[in-house]
Amino acid sequence: MQVTIKKYDPTKDAEPYNKTYEVPWKKHMTVLEAITYIHENHEPVGFDYSCRGRVCGRCSMMVNGEPAMACFTHIMNRANLLEPLRGFPVIRDFIVDKSKTHDAMGRILNRIIEKPITDREKILAPIDPALAKKIGAIEWCCRCLSCVAACPVINEKKDQEKFIGPAGIVSTALRYYDPYDEGDRVTEAVQNGLFECIMCGKCNKACPADEIDHLKIYAELRKAATDRGLKPKKA
Ligand code: FES
Repeated sequence: MQVTIKKYDPTKDAEPYNKTYEVPWKKHMTVLEAITYIHENHEPVGFDYSCRGRVCGRCSMMVNGEPAMACFTHIMNRANLLEPLRGFPVIRDFIVDKSKTHDAMGRILNRIIEKPITDREKILAPIDPALAKKIGAIEWCCRCLSCVAACPVINEKKDQEKFIGPAGIVSTALRYYDPYDEGDRVTEAVQNGLFECIMCGKCNKACPADEIDHLKIYAELRKAATDRGLKPKKA
């Protein structure tokens, strides 16, 4: 089979360029295995991975035009185009700089606790099972940022100043559902562009975690915002 890679080393290439390699296909071969073959048998390729099992989120890239996890996606026995994850600065080949989004998510995920928790009963109180299910689902997020690469508001409207993107909103929701967090996460979500989202669902389709229901999360945050009169007038 043929595998075309969009290669780019900003330290020496003027522009990204496509290069095609022959790779012997085998049943159940993953995109990551195909890249590894090229790296070991043709020429070095810059790529990133760790867990090889949809946990670390490092191997996300564009596979035939769609965001996908290289370790978790079978490569087709035909011509394939592999590119770096859309919307992020390329460091080399498939290695992209996700730090801006990861830093924003990290800031959101810091728990806000205004009062010290001294009430032991509060600490030991079991979490409502429905809430625990919502929290557990979001915790499947591996921060691969495939959702950001799939988001038309981020990538087509270039509206990143207004909208933090799906990964940031999902992080906000995790703390919104968190019974130990005391931050005003609804206001935070609105300030980060909750109503800029066009509810297209492309983030949900691109997300490798089937457990996360992005549109339901956005709808719940929007309802909470609307109930509090926080919905922007033009949204
Ligand atoms: S290598 Fe960890 S998610 Fe693919």
